[in-house]
Amino acid sequence: MATIEIPGELKPRDGRFGSGPSRVRAAGVDALVLEADVTLAADARRVVDDTVARFGRLDTLVNNAGVMLLGPIVDADLREWERMIDLNLTALMRCTHAALPHLRAAAAREPRRVADVVNVSSVAGRFARVGSGAYNATKFGVGAFSESLRQEITREHVRVSLIEPGYVATELQSHNRPEIQETMRRTFRLDDPLEAADVADAIRYVVTRARHVAINEVLIRPTEQER
Ligand SMILES: NC(=O)c1ccc[n+]([C@@H]2O[C@H](COP(=O)([O-])OP(=O)(O)OC[C@H]3O[C@@H](n4cnc5c(N)ncnc54)[C@H](OP(=O)(O)O)[C@@H]3O)[C@@H](O)[C@H]2O)c1
Repeated sequence: MATIEIPGELKPRDGRFGSGPSRVRAAGVDALVLEADVTLAADARRVVDDTVARFGRLDTLVNNAGVMLLGPIVDADLREWERMIDLNLTALMRCTHAALPHLRAAAAREPRRVADVVNVSSVAGRFARVGSGAYNATKFGVGAFSESLRQEITREHVRVSLIEPGYVATELQSHNRPEIQETMRRTFRLDDPLEAADVADAIRYVVTRARHVAINEVLIRPTEQER
């Protein structure tokens, strides 16, 4: 099937958008592309409701949006912390809250009788380091929230999974101040980082397991990444 619905004109929040809609089109799948700022509770609810209205049910939620603003804790810019907490943690929790009634309903019914919440955390959600304390705090928070939710709803066959990537070649680092970017260039010298497609592969593996198999956690690093 090759039906794509893109309501309205998609606009980047900060001048970027990438090739998302055209890639979806090229994949030839039936897709609904919705623009949202998931830090807004109303947007989080709207994307869930519009998706259910369009497809009749919701089987999978992937919480992927995130920002990584690194730097020392001493004298940190509190606005950077707030931005990270709002997006990496609170928005993920809000989207999950909005999606849960639909995921539980999907897991209770045919055809699959299983549903998935996939939360994209990070190696930084497993290991804290100097210079990434606030980012670590958001990703450790994602881990705690995910594990608590997993225990709460796993008997309903709603699976909760954590994906914890190491270094992936994306725009993530570019949101940092220039001096932080320079430090990162010196610290992370990898010839062969992960690609977004490698992380997508891990997510695809997680959500396509048989109903009785729950992949709770996937730590995925570029082979040459030591820590
Ligand atoms: N790159 C890495 O090395 C790495 C490693 C470990 C974990 N991660 C995690 O992977 C996830 C994806 O990051 P990435 O590396 O792909 O970074 P990225 O290239 O900067 O992408 C971030 C994504 O988040 C979206 N986003 C940002 N603010 C949003 C908002 N308020 N509402 C809705 N969407 C918003 C962006 O959408 P727009 O483009 O439309 O703004 C973009 O799609 C993050 O959770 C990150 O912490 C990344």
